[in-house]
Amino acid sequence: MSEQFSPTAGMQNGFDLALLPTLTPHEQAVVERRQRLLGPSYKLMYQHPVEFVRAEGVYMYGPNGEQYLDCYNNVPSVGHCHPRVVEAVSKQLATLNTHTRYMDEKILNYTEQLVETFGGGIGNVMYTCTGSEAVDLALRIAKFNTGGTGIIVTDYAYHGITTTVAAISTTMGKYVPVDQHVRTVRAPYAYHAEPGLDLGERLAADIEAAVADMQRHGIKFAGFIADSIFSTDGLLPDPTGFLQKAIEVVHKHGGVYIADEVQPGFARTGRNFWGYQRHGIQPDIVVMGKPMGNGLPIAGVAAKPQLLADFGPKVRYFNTFGGNAVCISAAQAVLDVIRDEGLQENCHQVGNYLLDGFKSIAKQYPSIGDVRGAGLYFAVEFVTDPQSKAPDQDLTTKVVGGLRERKVLISTTGPHENSLKIRPLLCFQKAHADQLLETFADTMAAVTAGKA
Ligand SMILES: Cc1ncc(COP(=O)(O)O)c(C=O)c1O
Repeated sequence: MSEQFSPTAGMQNGFDLALLPTLTPHEQAVVERRQRLLGPSYKLMYQHPVEFVRAEGVYMYGPNGEQYLDCYNNVPSVGHCHPRVVEAVSKQLATLNTHTRYMDEKILNYTEQLVETFGGGIGNVMYTCTGSEAVDLALRIAKFNTGGTGIIVTDYAYHGITTTVAAISTTMGKYVPVDQHVRTVRAPYAYHAEPGLDLGERLAADIEAAVADMQRHGIKFAGFIADSIFSTDGLLPDPTGFLQKAIEVVHKHGGVYIADEVQPGFARTGRNFWGYQRHGIQPDIVVMGKPMGNGLPIAGVAAKPQLLADFGPKVRYFNTFGGNAVCISAAQAVLDVIRDEGLQENCHQVGNYLLDGFKSIAKQYPSIGDVRGAGLYFAVEFVTDPQSKAPDQDLTTKVVGGLRERKVLISTTGPHENSLKIRPLLCFQKAHADQLLETFADTMAAVTAGKA
């Protein structure tokens, strides 16, 4: 199949339609029906796509009751169909569901609690339905306040799908060009850096150079946006602190620092509630989404009040569904569950256990070049040889497929699609971690038989 028409273009671990004949008659019928009704933009995951009919806690279930361990989804992070979320949403849906143009103290109560988590500086929250909308709004706020248009991003970043946001998303491929006012900097990739290199210094220097380049082209710098855990760049958690110099340079040049917390936010990284807090920085704007409502469409932009002081009165912003009462009730339930069930501490404890487990399995396989992670978010990077660190995408795909056949769901990340992306739910217990590690060990043994 030609690259131009590849059904998986731009998406990692996507099903290739060329494999249709390998599926069961039922699966073929569903895939063909999707193609016919939803059109070609919709992609399925895995070389052998999977069908689900229900979910509960950390498990998802197929049509015949097959049980899959969810180690991938970053939306139902407090647990699939968590009873407290279900109850809060159902009750609110049966009571009142309306928008933000009427007085309702529930959104205020929630916002007060959310603002406390940022630890100073951030004081206002605006609600949207998706992370993309939140990033879009954050860019507008940054551009309005600075009078600039120049945005800096890392070289394999994904921030969302609106026209403006797709144009700052460097992962989108050649048919979605990066905006001419965007400059890219190298992601702080410790595994691939020369030994001894200070990644924070390099990032700061790259930002300096990008701003200088903008100036040469008559572009005024508006801001720098980064996913605080660099999910698509390959998942880059260490060393903590490497964002500190970056924020200094951004501020020196009058720019706004936007922390994209759509992935690492809401306790995902364990020790901290927000990913940027791992680096000891205080952003100007924080964007969040995904796990915020455990599946209800709620996302948001949290900002320093001074950035909204002039923007708010001058720029009309109303988001019909953003922050509606039902979504706020879901978001409130998520915060309550994280607190009441101690999920942040759980994430830290079970996360460390899993990281040690992956590292210990990695010792048996030279093809595993690196294992990294924070909280319950891990990458396992495959290389053809540990010296050259050349990517082994083929092996990565096989391991993802092998885990899927053994009913454990993960995916891939990184510019070369050669890192496993493992992101278990925050309510993962040690027994689930053991199931994941044992299945990973079995899969590695099977996939590398005769090779490792
Ligand atoms: C880092 C990051 N930012 C923004 C988004 C966009 O969020 P949404 O899909 O809710 O529009 C995503 C989605 O995957 C993301 O990973």
